[in-house]
Amino acid sequence: KLNSRLVVVSNRGSCTFVDSPQGIKAVPSVSGLVSAVEPVVSQEGGTWVAWGGRCGREGEFAGISVPMPENGQKYVFQEVLLTPEEVTLYYEGFNNGCLWPLCHNFVEKSVFNEEEWQAYRKVNEKYAAVLFKCAGPRDLFWVHDYHLAILPAYIRRQRPYSRVSLFWHIPFPPAEIFAVMPWAEEMLKGMLEAELIGFHSRKYVRNFLHSAEEIAGAEVDYSNETVYWSGRQLKAVAAPIGINWLDFEKLAGEGEVVRKAAQIRQEAGGEYLLLGVDRLDYTKGILERLRAIEWLLENYPQYRNRLTFLQIAVPSRTGTAAYQRLKRRIEEAVGRINGKYTENYRVPVKYLFRSLSKPDLVAHYLAADMALVTPLKDGLNLVAKEYVASNAGDVGVLLLSPFAGAAGQLKEALTANPYNPREMAARIVQGLEMPVAEKKRRLAALSKVIREQDIHWWWRKVRQSWFGDAARGKVAV
Ligand code: UDP
Ligand code: G6P
Repeated sequence: KLNSRLVVVSNRGSCTFVDSPQGIKAVPSVSGLVSAVEPVVSQEGGTWVAWGGRCGREGEFAGISVPMPENGQKYVFQEVLLTPEEVTLYYEGFNNGCLWPLCHNFVEKSVFNEEEWQAYRKVNEKYAAVLFKCAGPRDLFWVHDYHLAILPAYIRRQRPYSRVSLFWHIPFPPAEIFAVMPWAEEMLKGMLEAELIGFHSRKYVRNFLHSAEEIAGAEVDYSNETVYWSGRQLKAVAAPIGINWLDFEKLAGEGEVVRKAAQIRQEAGGEYLLLGVDRLDYTKGILERLRAIEWLLENYPQYRNRLTFLQIAVPSRTGTAAYQRLKRRIEEAVGRINGKYTENYRVPVKYLFRSLSKPDLVAHYLAADMALVTPLKDGLNLVAKEYVASNAGDVGVLLLSPFAGAAGQLKEALTANPYNPREMAARIVQGLEMPVAEKKRRLAALSKVIREQDIHWWWRKVRQSWFGDAARGKVAV
């Protein structure tokens, strides 16, 4: 346990609040950030400051404070309120329309708009005001993701000696891409006010260090992954998030989950079941995956009528036009493939547009012969790790995109370029035909890494980098 109180700060928290006639309802949020941070804040206690999805009036900053989980009271959720205009300009505009595509190397999709940038600055400042209301002078601020990159600067402006650390959950792009954003220098200088910044991989650390040097003009010590700027120093660390291994191992062994998995297999019908699980986002490569399935059915006719591909697409950013367009295109592709390849009224592609509970999700992981985790670009990807953990006692094949951060750790996965349907189809066939002994060998090697570098390992690594000896309990932090 930490001796000081932890204050986690992020845009999206563990749940979204919805006003209903029965009062405010909390709906769990679905994302890798939440899957990773919630177990840590539940263990350490403290406060989680986040936007709860609700709006307030201009000048209204803080919303409700709720003990979480609702009956467990492990931490307090402090809601931040945004105005409808801030939702449009800061969240949908700057975060989803500029930073998200830029960091995922989709430069041509990034929209640069001064008004949105000003709203981003204003909301970061607003978060600081909420923090000062609910946090004491010795509290530890752990800020998450690209939505709040310049919050460290606003914290320091008022409390210069605060302990502030950032964790960046998405890719950090090469300096020449980040530099395209007109406010890259100011954003980097805001980030440099933290004392520690974590990323999922060494590659992202390097990209960040180059940006700090080339764009912000900071002094960088590459061997110690440290940036010196304005009399301060910031340490960067590669710490890929892990999963709660024991949770998945336990769920995968529960009778109810095993029964559900058998039912899913039976209802899927085919001999082979392939699975995709993603938020419906263009970075996840769902459309490209469907093209690979189509290619496979076209060019390997022996698999027609024997293979089912089940895609779970979790609704995400549904208010944004780009996401609505993508949904239409995915649904058209599903319709086209099923129209062409359905035999005896059995469809090759099944598609769900919804989120599942953890036990249901694990049942799907267990049911699938192969998981297709093939993003075009992804900070890490927890689904890949969860699929392996759920199948550790059995067999299963993971096809992983080399463009997912997790590929750096999961060397024994099959890989294919998601932009190449021919290669994807060939790898899928290889996975389906793989001898059981090879499946087991690969799964065992993957399991070893995921089990050793689990969520506790990740938090220990962050703590150790943040507090050094203090994290081992020698000094009170
Ligand atoms: N998830 C879930 N229900 C679903 C689908 C996904 O709870 O129906 C969770 C999944 O267990 C994983 C997270 O959502 O922990 C997705 O994380 P990932 O890193 O794969 O992607 P992100 O959404 O953060 O881009
Ligand atoms: C990714 C980001 C998170 C974000 C999540 C869902 O996982 O790293 O910060 O919360 O996507 O997106 P949303 O826009 O719904 O918060």
